[in-house]
Amino acid sequence: MSLNRSHPEKTPHILVLGMGGTIAGLASAPEKPLEYVAGQVGVDSLVTHIESAIPQGVKLLSHQLANINSRNLSESLLSLLGKTVRSSLEDPAVLGIVVTHGTDTIEETGVFLQLSCGQHANRLGKRVILTGAMLPSNAPGADGPSNLLDAIKWASTPLDNCPGGIYAVMDGRVCMAMDLAKRHPSALNAPVQSSPSSSAGLINPSWLSGVKAVQTAWTEDLPIPEEGEWPWVEILTSHAGARPETVSLWAESQVKGLVLAGSGMGGFHDAWLEPLKQAASKGIALVRTSRTGSGFTLPNIPEKEPLGCLASGGLSAPRARIALQLALNAEKQAKLAGKSLTWQDFFARIAVLPAVG
Ligand code: SIN
Repeated sequence: MSLNRSHPEKTPHILVLGMGGTIAGLASAPEKPLEYVAGQVGVDSLVTHIESAIPQGVKLLSHQLANINSRNLSESLLSLLGKTVRSSLEDPAVLGIVVTHGTDTIEETGVFLQLSCGQHANRLGKRVILTGAMLPSNAPGADGPSNLLDAIKWASTPLDNCPGGIYAVMDGRVCMAMDLAKRHPSALNAPVQSSPSSSAGLINPSWLSGVKAVQTAWTEDLPIPEEGEWPWVEILTSHAGARPETVSLWAESQVKGLVLAGSGMGGFHDAWLEPLKQAASKGIALVRTSRTGSGFTLPNIPEKEPLGCLASGGLSAPRARIALQLALNAEKQAKLAGKSLTWQDFFARIAVLPAVG
């Protein structure tokens, strides 16, 4: 891993950005691996730990952006990460980027990076790879070292294997980062178990053609909101016995958008209809998704679209929330530039992205 000691950042390298998470977590006692604190070990130590297994010729530089439990992920940290990824992609010495991240909100970061840096990474022919772990770093059989190693190896494999873009590697599988979906609290493959994916060692051609279809469709990244400029968007879940107050209280707030995690195909309780009309008339953006957590929410299915809501396509509620924030911010930036594009124009481009098979 020898770098040019006086100018290490000028030697071609893979950049490893540390955000924290269980991969950097420490259990109070290794025999109780579920009792631990996330975000304790520095990213430099995580890299040093696997140094001897790094393929020859691969140089690494690490940089700590944060060391948090990702349940505390903030929008300002997303801005910092997005800007760091963008500027690092433009650096000719950076061959690829690996981000170590907590798995609890990795799906939000995954969709954020796809929508703000995905086209950029693809055009520059570089991969950005999110990874994490389900066991803390001092647990017996900790999965962090092998996930990090797989991500680094995959970041440095030739592009003819798979194009530049935003990906995630966990438990030996690779998926597009926008397909991450943590749907189990503790399984080692939790963030990728319900995502279209391929073995990281041998790329599956049908997965690869799905990736290329998404990349062909995603032709323009959305602007990264400045710190403090992220539009306020909340998620409301419809359920048996839902009350109108759940919506009417929000309609009176300064919220800019609501993601409705509806039941089944994304329908919501009739008790919400009137207060949602009130919210829509105040200019609050409405997006419909399904609380089932997978599949597609399609426009005008099962009924004609109520209240100017947009259907979320393949986006789960947490991902739809990030997408709506970016779409609202893009509308604001477009207005400042004298263009009359709306959040619906931007969100519609996201919701029609094809599913990776
Ligand atoms: C976190 O998200 O920071 C904690 C949980 C994890 O990384 O698996």
